Amino acid sequence: MPLIQVIVGSTRRGRFADKPVAWLAGRLGRREGFDLEILDLRDHPLPLYDRAVPPARSLRDYPDEDVGRLGRTIERADGFIIVTSEYNHGYPASLKNAMDHVFPEFNRKPVAFVGYGNVGGARAIEQLRLVAVEFEMAPLRHAIHILPELMIAAMRADPFSSEVFSSLDQRLETMVADLLWWTAALGAGRAADKLTL
Ligand SMILES: Cc1cc2nc3c(=O)[nH]c(=O)nc-3n(C[C@H](O)[C@H](O)[C@H](O)COP(=O)(O)O)c2cc1C
Repeated sequence: MPLIQVIVGSTRRGRFADKPVAWLAGRLGRREGFDLEILDLRDHPLPLYDRAVPPARSLRDYPDEDVGRLGRTIERADGFIIVTSEYNHGYPASLKNAMDHVFPEFNRKPVAFVGYGNVGGARAIEQLRLVAVEFEMAPLRHAIHILPELMIAAMRADPFSSEVFSSLDQRLETMVADLLWWTAALGAGRAADKLTL
């Protein structure tokens, strides 16, 4: 069964990220055909990246158990949904720092994006698509952009309910269908690679 991993990019106190992640978990958590796992970067606090040899060269030769745990967690995923905030027109440093600690674990896997902010995290997502290419990933065109109006509604909802985001459900279906197509295609490609090695 393919594993889709939702990577929570923001580790900020009081982060908004938890709301779209709850929506994704609610909508996708019990689907047939794939498993869903949440990778919360708060569970993987790592120092600012400072290794002499980049992970693109050292590969799975992890410098310590903390990086190893992150690497092995990412390794088991077949496809990703990155949930990203936008800080100063870019992706959050917490996300990029975590990504920089690993490399081959992301290779040849697809990634879709859920962003939020003044323009729905569009600038952060555009930048992340370029980052994903360097990780030898397949970044998808379909994405979810949560605009301020919905963010405010989500923040005001007490208690919060994923229904706040129901206007995005159809978009999510389209994005997930595409993500699963790429997950199957690239999964078959990776498996064929292993057979010929
Ligand atoms: C340091 C900082 C910079 C920000 N810059 C932007 C920005 O460039 N564009 C934007 O749409 N929102 C920006 N925001 C607002 C964020 O979209 C908003 O705070 C959001 O809740 C952040 O996500 P998080 O709470 O999950 O960390 C910024 C917020 C912070 C804390």
